[in-house]
Amino acid sequence: MTTIEAGSTSPPKPKMIFGRFRFWMFMVGLVTILTGLLFGYDQGVISGALQFIAAAFHLGTTLQEVVTSWVTLGALVGALIAGGLADRLGRKPTMMIGGALFAVGALGETLAPGTWILVISRFVIGFGVGVASVAGPLYAAEMAPSSDRGRYVSSYQLAVTIGILLADIADAVLSPGGHWRVMLGLSIVPGVLLVLIAMAMPDTPRWYLAVGRRAQARATLAKTIGGANLDGRLDGMQAELAEAAGVKWKDVFAPAVRRALWVGIGLAVFQQVTGINAVIYYSDKIFKLAGFTTPHGQTIATIISVGAVNCLATLIAIAYIDKFGRKPLLYAGLVGMTVGLLAIAASFAFLDRHPTTGGGPSITGIVTLIAMVVYIASFAFSLGPVVWTLISEIYPNRIRGKAMAVATAFNWGAAFIVSASFLSIMNAIGEGTTFLLFAVLCIIAFFWVRAKVPETKGKSLEQIQQAWADLDKEHQEPKPAYATD
Ligand code: BGC
Repeated sequence: MTTIEAGSTSPPKPKMIFGRFRFWMFMVGLVTILTGLLFGYDQGVISGALQFIAAAFHLGTTLQEVVTSWVTLGALVGALIAGGLADRLGRKPTMMIGGALFAVGALGETLAPGTWILVISRFVIGFGVGVASVAGPLYAAEMAPSSDRGRYVSSYQLAVTIGILLADIADAVLSPGGHWRVMLGLSIVPGVLLVLIAMAMPDTPRWYLAVGRRAQARATLAKTIGGANLDGRLDGMQAELAEAAGVKWKDVFAPAVRRALWVGIGLAVFQQVTGINAVIYYSDKIFKLAGFTTPHGQTIATIISVGAVNCLATLIAIAYIDKFGRKPLLYAGLVGMTVGLLAIAASFAFLDRHPTTGGGPSITGIVTLIAMVVYIASFAFSLGPVVWTLISEIYPNRIRGKAMAVATAFNWGAAFIVSASFLSIMNAIGEGTTFLLFAVLCIIAFFWVRAKVPETKGKSLEQIQQAWADLDKEHQEPKPAYATD
């Protein structure tokens, strides 16, 4: 039932600008943005806090990796159970649970007397993030009129990047005093806000219908999107629900959808193994290694190169994804990411890391800063938002919810592996080689995208399904390769 169907129910756009319809859709947008903010703040904040935590609790490399990465482990578990919770309890209570877990975890982090309470709190926060990261976009997709669905879903990705930027700013303001507990504790605010705002919202019409509460479904549709023919649209939703009912997990792995399943998983994994969260989580450390000597200098470099650039370049994707198409953005982004990573690798390998004669950042530091800007910007207009868009488009209606959950779990799993091993890998093979490895993975991703990923720009979901079926047919004939462009 977690399926996000495309619009056979095509409701009209809400027309009233200052009336209550707009008000409720504004609230839907706000809830979606809050779930993204939680995710982003939490991703971003650790880069500034880590060095103070490491000093306060005397953490070595392995424990620093545990403190950093257990959020992703929690998110992996949270994302896996969120679909079931959202079906059983409703989208709204599931978002509230996500927000509450997040706030409780944040409180635990702030007050943690030692490493293990901190690690458990990181896990709880991650659990909340995982639950909210499924329930928030699902809520938005089911509440939004189909004409605006893409915008609502991509506003989630934008909110993630705004969350990272806010975390970087909090790190910058608080790092001169070393206030790491406040940095972490601030995330209580969006967690509590999410609980309070979601509490005031209705559940989605689709969920009310699925549990047989048609009157509430009708009332919600009337007060959010409104428009004519409410009953006809509810009947359409009911028919879609009937189609998705009875879908089992094994259907997600059936031969007919296997190709699409692998493309989704591949996109989710490549998004992570090309290094984005290693860079986000450990950016201060990277700048320190590169010759930014003060924590404040490292945090400012992070705000500019990670926070602001990530946020701005995401806007480019939102503006151009439907004009240029998904694959061109992916190609351009992967080329830019490769160039950025190679420059970081080269600066670590060959340049001087000692502060410049004026006492400012070293030459390595300056080159690293520029290269990070190129890398993050390239990720943010490509792999960041495009991967999530493709994952939401390539599956048939019937299995979309479950298949998206599988891809999301692979994404968190890959994020966990990268963040849990990045520092150790860097210690073992050196910074330059580590970034070179990410660059090689970008190149592999480029050719994989070329060979396997379909272009979905301007295609209806039905046309995308037909394209998969044609590809399967073609593949059964004895041809050596197939082209998806
Ligand atoms: C990724 C996250 C990443 C974020 C950065 C998202 O698309 O899934 O793992 O932290 O982009 O903006």
